[in-house]
Amino acid sequence: MRVPLIAGNWKMYKTLAEAVAFARALKEAAAGFKGVEAAVCPPFAALAAVAGELKGSSVAVGAQDVFWEAEGAYTGEISPAMLVDAGCSYVIAGHSERRQYFQETDENVNRKVKAALLHGLVPIICVGELLQEREAGITEKVVQSQTGAALAGLKPEQVAGLVIAYEPVWAIGTGRTATEADAQQVIAFIRTLVRDSFGDVAAYGVRIQYGGSVKPENAAGLMSQPDIDGALVGGASLKVDSFAGIIKACG
Ligand code: 13P
Repeated sequence: MRVPLIAGNWKMYKTLAEAVAFARALKEAAAGFKGVEAAVCPPFAALAAVAGELKGSSVAVGAQDVFWEAEGAYTGEISPAMLVDAGCSYVIAGHSERRQYFQETDENVNRKVKAALLHGLVPIICVGELLQEREAGITEKVVQSQTGAALAGLKPEQVAGLVIAYEPVWAIGTGRTATEADAQQVIAFIRTLVRDSFGDVAAYGVRIQYGGSVKPENAAGLMSQPDIDGALVGGASLKVDSFAGIIKACG
């Protein structure tokens, strides 16, 4: 059975001191959680310190982005090996904020996913439609094209081990969560896409999260859906109480 993954995407929040204090408190709060995996994705500057603090705990660490080259003259970028060195086991690829503000393309998301896998990082691949795309009735078309591009060229066993986060853009930071039925419907559709292209083992293994205004109050209902394997949490992952509340609701 798939173990749900609750991952906190801190985005551009928290100083080093705040990040370490959070990790210390979360480590204690997470000690009793069962049947669920938790991870935090701090900004680059806090990765190593947070990973050091969480070492030996049940909470994993992920980065929010990565570059696909191994090293070189790429000012401002960070390589997969550097993330591993800092203590990461996950990396987010293709978050809608990167697509919107930093010209992230499907093609580059695919490069990042391949580079992450090559270095033993588990990618968390974000897909999701804009409000106008949902209103135009093209949600499945958008998600199909983003998912297909991100997974292009991967082997079924690689797909089985990765994480996809379905994050409808209109639900991010808005307080407007997708309904359980809508989230389940799109996530089941993504699993069918995976089955069609990579087979049953990949479809059974791949974990597909929901993201977009997840809170302790709505987490259990979302997680009770058969195809939803965890959550990618933004705002509510910034406070230990609410993040731990979400993890608890999913265990
Ligand atoms: P919110 O939980 O703040 O809506 O953000 C979701 C998100 O973008 C996680 O990657």
